[in-house]
Amino acid sequence: MAYTPLSLLVLLSLSTLLLLLSPQTQAQSPSAPAPAPSGPINITAILEKPGGFSDFIHLLNVTQAGNQIDNQVNNSNDGMTVFAPTDNAFDNLPAGTLNKLTMEQQVLLVQYHVLPKFYSLTDLLTVSNPVQTQANGPNGKNFGLNFTGQGNQLNVSTGVVETQIYNAVRSNRPLAVYQVDKVLLPLEFYESLAPSSSPPPPPENAPASGPSGTKTTAAKPSSTNDSGRMNVGVDLVAGLLLFCIGYLS
Ligand SMILES: *[C@@H]1O[C@H](CO)[C@@H](O)[C@H](O)[C@H]1NC(C)=O
Ligand SMILES: *[C@@H]1O[C@H](CO)[C@@H](O)[C@H](O)[C@H]1NC(C)=O
Ligand SMILES: *[C@@H]1O[C@H](CO)[C@@H](O)[C@H](O)[C@H]1NC(C)=O
Ligand SMILES: *[C@@H]1O[C@H](CO)[C@@H](O)[C@H](O)[C@H]1NC(C)=O
Ligand SMILES: *[C@@H]1O[C@H](CO)[C@@H](O)[C@H](O)[C@H]1NC(C)=O
Ligand SMILES: *[C@@H]1O[C@H](CO)[C@@H](O)[C@H](O)[C@H]1NC(C)=O
Repeated sequence: MAYTPLSLLVLLSLSTLLLLLSPQTQAQSPSAPAPAPSGPINITAILEKPGGFSDFIHLLNVTQAGNQIDNQVNNSNDGMTVFAPTDNAFDNLPAGTLNKLTMEQQVLLVQYHVLPKFYSLTDLLTVSNPVQTQANGPNGKNFGLNFTGQGNQLNVSTGVVETQIYNAVRSNRPLAVYQVDKVLLPLEFYESLAPSSSPPPPPENAPASGPSGTKTTAAKPSSTNDSGRMNVGVDLVAGLLLFCIGYLS
């Protein structure tokens, strides 16, 4: 009884307006651009864009670690963080270092550059050390990375190598990619040999780096298994790297 002709008119026009609007909004939503799912992550494409990461891209490709990163980013909610050494970083390694590594050893080295979680630069400034990487040595021991910050300066340290992180190739969830100017060589490569000898005799290490790389692979049939791969040959890598560094100094 309180309805006056005016309020009825208002109600009517309101419902007409709603009726008119609703199909329009329904028609708009499908054509509106989707918020974010801009296709699957492709670490190779991300690193190709700025340039200067050819060696790391090659390593990601030959070890299949690139595919693993793409898949894991897609299939986990934690995201990932990748430290991408520049071509200069690889150039500064002792000559032939990479070529002397077996596939399993290269996988381990690449995995050490990957964290199974997204970290912003700010996160890394305050993260608690050591931070787990994707690299697991024998006995499941994780090869951790340490981060130290001072003001805006952020360093990553392996115990063998320390370098500053100042450039984000990509900083959006779910994948962060940071440039590093040194290849991150894990301390564990050195620790596993440290107690046995200080100057590793070249004759023992040299054959391992040559054609017998295949011999090492053959001796470990489990290396066809992806999770087993990463646990193979750490001592050999340690020997090689120690040898290389001894050779340099
Ligand atoms: C990722 O990008 C690279 C280079 O752009 C391309 O060669 C490769 O096919 C891409 N991988 C996938 C799975 O789309
Ligand atoms: C990756 O390796 C394959 C051969 O294994 C090669 O055909 C391809 O060009 C490589 N891609 C990149 C981006 O290096
Ligand atoms: C991403 O993961 C979903 C399941 O989580 C799967 O259906 C889809 O095929 C995956 N896409 C790629 C490119 O791996
Ligand atoms: C980072 O490392 C450099 C050497 O590479 C060193 O001079 C600097 O003090 C370090 N900074 C921090 C915050 O640890
Ligand atoms: C990394 O940090 C942890 C915790 O502070 C420390 O115990 C460890 O010695 C550090 N490792 C290296 C290689 O600096
Ligand atoms: C791969 O190896 C791990 C142990 O290294 C084992 O637990 C797992 O079952 C193996 N997977 C396959 C498919 O052989």
